[in-house]
Amino acid sequence: MEANIKEQLDESLSHYNGEGGDLIPILQEAQERFGYLPGEVMQEVAKFLQLPESTVYGVVTFYAQFKLSPTGKRVVKVCRGTACHVRGGARILREVEKHLGIKPGETTDDFEYTLETVACIGACALAPTMVVDKETHGQMNTKKVAEVFSDKGKTE
Ligand code: FES
Repeated sequence: MEANIKEQLDESLSHYNGEGGDLIPILQEAQERFGYLPGEVMQEVAKFLQLPESTVYGVVTFYAQFKLSPTGKRVVKVCRGTACHVRGGARILREVEKHLGIKPGETTDDFEYTLETVACIGACALAPTMVVDKETHGQMNTKKVAEVFSDKGKTE
């Protein structure tokens, strides 16, 4: 494990007593620090809580909030729900894939964007929809997709 990761993880773990109920808060804190949960981090957490590694892994894979691989700085979620589907959601997804050069579940090489799909973002009246970070974009069309990603490639 990289010294830097170990140091940061130890700092997080120092806030806990090592009880089984600490598992989820520890994983949440670790993910906040590292952006995802590397294997070595899950092993260390298992050791700290004296739990089998399989238990920690089982929890991480059960909850959608936990990520096993690095995600981009911005997470793009395109809705695949029924309301969005009937209003051209599939076309919006294809357009986003084209702009980012990745498929759902993938992250761009520069770690700028991760693309995901969701069942419904709860804004069906605005279908078709997508979310970039926490911002909802509604009544999407190909022109709007291009606008959302117009700064792609520019450094911030
Ligand atoms: S189905 Fe897309 S927001 Fe509900």
